[in-house]
Amino acid sequence: MARILVTGGAGFIGSNFVHHLVDTTDHDVVVLDKLTYAGNRASLDGLPAGRVEFVRGDIADAGLVDELFGRVDSVVHYAAESHNDNSLHDPRPFLDTNIIGTYTLLEAARRHDRRFHHISTDEVYGDLELDDPARFTETTPYNPSSPYSSTKAGSDLLVRAWVRSFGVRATISNCSNNYGPYQHVEKFIPRQITNVLRGIRPKLYGAGENVRDWIHADDHSSAVLTILDRGTIGETYLIGADGEENNKDVVELILELMGLPRDAYDHVTDRAGHDLRYAIDSTKLRTELGWLPRYGDFRAGLESTIAWYRDNESWWAPSKDATEAFYATKGQ
Ligand code: NAD
Ligand code: DAU
Repeated sequence: MARILVTGGAGFIGSNFVHHLVDTTDHDVVVLDKLTYAGNRASLDGLPAGRVEFVRGDIADAGLVDELFGRVDSVVHYAAESHNDNSLHDPRPFLDTNIIGTYTLLEAARRHDRRFHHISTDEVYGDLELDDPARFTETTPYNPSSPYSSTKAGSDLLVRAWVRSFGVRATISNCSNNYGPYQHVEKFIPRQITNVLRGIRPKLYGAGENVRDWIHADDHSSAVLTILDRGTIGETYLIGADGEENNKDVVELILELMGLPRDAYDHVTDRAGHDLRYAIDSTKLRTELGWLPRYGDFRAGLESTIAWYRDNESWWAPSKDATEAFYATKGQ
């Protein structure tokens, strides 16, 4: 049994990971989360207080981070500013949290010699053409497009440098687009589901040809736990579940599953610098560490996600109006 510090544990993927840890291991968890607009304490409701401690604070607060590292065995670092659209509007918080915050954690990992796993994104690799047979691998050169993805790329490089220069016992994973419960309504899939639930037409950026490689958040969690348990220090692992879909097909499927005509959506202003396609080759994780995804059926995963948002309006309703008001200022 170990005690694991999970940064960003009140966010979408972090909270899914905390639930996964409690359900599948006997580890105890300390969550460090600033509760920005994206964090929600309610995402951890129902978890046993004896196993999950919540600390509200900033990963860039060196004193607090030092105290917490002193009483855990390992750290999984999810905390980030995570939304591309926000990074185009105001990049500064992305630098503060994704770069300075990660640096602060790495310095503590070095001082305390703690096992450290860094959560990152496939977006560090830039994008692929629609007709390119290639997918991203661990050796694809970094080529990020947005302020968000460039700060994530920067944080990955800091981790690599702290491994090589200071011997920090770290691993990195770069995952594709997650979906599932507890995702903020600013993101593509929950935005469209909650739009339909509110009687608003779904909004597709541009022509909707952009492709994302979808993975259920619980598959991301099992992959991270696998790397934490069996990954080789200093290595990077790509996480993906062969889930490529274009945005138009996803919106149309959501409408169909929610009982509306498949064309009942609007095309809106495209995202600046919009990455065309992401696709992950997760062969290394599967062959070296024996990980496999469990949620192979995207349609079924989407159905259960729609059901979750239907059943949990009190979780998402407080953020919905402000999110839509912000998009409206940008014609989106
Ligand atoms: P999210 O925005 O839902 O959650 C981020 C959490 O971090 C929130 O709870 C927020 O309060 C917290 N946080 C932000 N700044 C903080 C700070 N300075 N100190 C402490 N806590 C802070 O994000 P997410 O979608 O769950 O993403 C989590 C991680 O996974 C990020 O590192 C992201 O880059 C990565 N990732 C996300 C996806 C995806 O599809 N969402 C895919 C691959 C990788
Ligand atoms: O690939 C991993 C990344 O996936 C993570 O690193 C990010 O943290 C996460 O937010 C996500 O980034 P994307 O930009 O791909 O996700 P988002 O949900 O914002 O958008 C998904 C696609 O849908 C993208 O092509 C833009 C499009 N979109 C988005 C919104 C919000 C729309 O067409 N309409 C919308 O209303």
